[in-house]
Amino acid sequence: MPRSSLLVLTLLATPAACKDSPQPEADPTPQPATAAATGPAASPSEDPRLDALRSEARVKVPLFAKALKGELLAAMESGGPTKAIEVCNLRAPAIAAEASKDGWTVGRRSTKLRNPDNAPDAWEAEVLSDFERRANAGDRVEELEFAEIVDGEDGKRFRYAKGIPVGGECLACHGGDIDLEVHGLILERYPNDRAIDYRPGQLRGIFSLEKGLE
Ligand code: HEC
Repeated sequence: MPRSSLLVLTLLATPAACKDSPQPEADPTPQPATAAATGPAASPSEDPRLDALRSEARVKVPLFAKALKGELLAAMESGGPTKAIEVCNLRAPAIAAEASKDGWTVGRRSTKLRNPDNAPDAWEAEVLSDFERRANAGDRVEELEFAEIVDGEDGKRFRYAKGIPVGGECLACHGGDIDLEVHGLILERYPNDRAIDYRPGQLRGIFSLEKGLE
């Protein structure tokens, strides 16, 4: 997926990309833009495109989540976790690639990774740590959301993140008591796997969406 390290550097230099951003958790109504300014040349005023883009992202995320979960659950039913690992391994990156069209990039990121290709960039890492903090403070993971328009070297980009909670159905492969054979298969494909020992309700990662604007 195309990433600009210059953009990352710009973002690193940005004061607290998501510190003052969080929206009231229980309120699903789009909030006014926050923290749109990220570069010396950026205007601090709110970008009028933010609300519409956030609404678009809110449509895309459940479609992507449903595609992933649909294939996962079908594979679990037909062949149990061993079959489902194969499906996740092959299909998860493909489903993300299929969802990435019309200028959008769609993916999943986490701090405790299974597939190293899902590593967060600087913006995503900061959002993840903010979401982590909010989840620890008692916020519901499924309501964690952050959107902003950032101004980097390659122009303005819309960026959006949504929390992914751990559910009971995830524990067979991400829990603390994984079947030995299943764990062996996971380690065969992902020797550096860190995506285990999760409990239901915890933050597993984020759906991360972005779109270049100019
Ligand atoms: C059958 C085993 C299995 C189950 C069940 C499972 N996963 Fe995964 N998960 C995987 C595999 C394998 C990958 C690596 C996929 C890849 O290569 O992109 C993965 C990757 C992920 C990632 C991407 C970040 C990373 O660490 O690479 C997230 C987020 C994730 N899973 C969340 C979930 C959630 C939430 C559930 C429950 C709804 C779930 N998983 C259930 C096997 C599983």
